[in-house]
Parts: sequence; C-alpha cells; structure tokens
Amino acid sequence: DTQLRQNAITAGGVKKLLPQRRPDAHKGMSGRVLLVAGSEGFTGAAFLAASGSLRGGAGLVTLAIAAGLHDIMEIKLTEVMTRPLPEADRGTMGREAVPSVGAWEFENDVLAIGPGLGRHTDTLQAVREIIGAAEKPLVIDADALTALAGQVELLTETKALSIITPHPGEMARLTGLTVEEINQDRIDIARRSSQKWESIVVLKGARTIVAFPDGEIYINPTGNAGMATGGTGDVLTGLIAALIAQGLSSHDAAIAGVYVHGMAGDIAARRMGLIGLTAADLLPAIPVAIDAIQ
Ligand code: APR
Ligand code: MG
Repeated sequence: DTQLRQNAITAGGVKKLLPQRRPDAHKGMSGRVLLVAGSEGFTGAAFLAASGSLRGGAGLVTLAIAAGLHDIMEIKLTEVMTRPLPEADRGTMGREAVPSVGAWEFENDVLAIGPGLGRHTDTLQAVREIIGAAEKPLVIDADALTALAGQVELLTETKALSIITPHPGEMARLTGLTVEEINQDRIDIARRSSQKWESIVVLKGARTIVAFPDGEIYINPTGNAGMATGGTGDVLTGLIAALIAQGLSSHDAAIAGVYVHGMAGDIAARRMGLIGLTAADLLPAIPVAIDAIQ
C-alpha cells in the first residue's frame, strides 16, 4: 500500500498527458491506428479493440482481418476501415489471418496486434516477422503475445519503444513462471521483464502495473472487479494505440491508457453495478472519462 501511494497514477498526472483537440483539427491530425485482430469466433475482439481506438480519439482506424471475415466486419464496424488479409490454411477449422510485413508503417502511426487473432502456426510466424521488422511503436496483446512465448527476446529488436499488455496468464507464458509466482511479485517481475525485453510492460489485473525499461513503475488505482469479463483487455489495446496515434509517446500512452480504461470501467459500474458489466459498456464511458480528467 505504501508502494501504491508512491507510484500511483493520478488524474492530475494523466491530465497533462492527454491529447488536446485544436479548434481547427481535421481527422488527419488525430492520427491513424492499424489494428490486426480477430478470427473466426473472435470477431468481437476486433470490434472491441477497434471501438476502443475510436472512443480513445483516433482520427482514422483501419482493421486488417482475414479476408473471409472482412464483409462481416464492414457491417459490424461503421466508422472503421477494413482491409482483407490472406488466410492461414486451416481447412474447415476457421479463418485466421496471415498478416504480412507491408507498407502499413507509411500510412499509420501505430500498430496494435493480437486481440482474437488466433494461434495458427502461420499466423504466429507472421506476427513474429512483423514484430521483428517494426519501426513504429507496437501495442502487442493476446495471441500476439502467444507468438512471443519462448521467443520474447524478439521484443528487443523493435526500433520504437513498444508496449506489451499481458494478463497474468500471458505473463506466465512469456516468463516461464506460474501465474501464482507472477501474482506474488507483480511489481518486480514487471520491472525486470521490461528491462530485459526493452519494452513497456503493462501487467494487467486489479492494480495494473506499468513498467518501463529504466526501472520506473506505475500502479493504476482505477478499475474494478466488474471489468473481469471477456473483452475488456481488447478495449485497452485499442485505447492505448489511439493515444499513441494522437501523438503521445508510448510511455505516456501506456500510463494514460490504463488510467482512462479503468476510469471508464468505474463510470460504467457506477451506472449499472459490477455484475452485468460488459466490455462494450466501457466504450461510451471512455470519452466521459477523458472529458472528466480534462
Ligand atoms: N480490477 C481492476 N481491473 C480489472 C480487474 C479487477 N478486479 N479484473 C480485470 N481487470 C482489467 C484488467 O486490468 C485488464 O485491463 O480488465 C482487463 C482484462 O483484460 P484481459 O485479462 O486481457 O481480459 P480479456 O480482454 O477478457 O481477454 C480475454 O484475451 O488475453 C486473451 O487469453 C485471453 O482469451 C482471453 C481473452
Ligand atoms: Mg486479453
């Protein structure tokens, strides 16, 4: 608790980090997010992450998704542009994308990759290639973290400072520790991992830890147990990417993103309680949280 008091993220601190919208703004000034997410049975993850980016204020959001799911997402996401990707050869098993290292960096400010993406070997290999070649910041979550298990040193090759957002189970796979070991020592494990992997580590769960390679750590005081429901993490991934697109450094976007995300959960919970809260309930609360902080 002493540590929480010393290292807690505060509303006043986040206020200084959040983007301002100039009166003469146009959509090109609010940045572009590219999201690689979703697979058959997991289109909701793509929806939630893309919507998190929109509600986080990104000017333009593009979702790259397996070609066979492209038409569905065109209908499911109104403001988001979609781009069809080649699919892994999986027979009748489902549709998973094989994203390629392409020209995405010329058009977009940040790539968020992983929510619901699937774990086909071709998909995971493609994810590793993208991570190894990236020059702009990445937000790496969910199945893209699975791609790193056993090869987490790939993170040291990204040129820009990237962010990984593991929950304790994903962190266990990345470190080779058990979930119990992670949860007994969250702060030090996040700090040491960030230093070793040269990446920002957002270790999720009640009191999310944000750790930086220089040893700096923050603890997030916002959020609640109502957020322990499928998809809330996907919203966070999109939200952090949107903040980077609007010009925040990865450092500032990680801190502000987890705070705003938890506060959106708190706003939603105040209205409807903890039990029936869904990830989609967080979405309209994100702008309310940002506005309240500003
Ligand atoms: N208090 C505060 N915040 C919480 C709490 C809590 N008790 N429980 C969860 N949260 C927050 C976390 O900090 C995080 O931001 O909710 C979010 C949950 O994110 P994830 O654990 O990634 O959960 P979810 O988005 O549902 O992902 C589920 O994605 O990572 C994969 O393997 C995972 O298939 C699973 C899917
Ligand atoms: Mg998740």
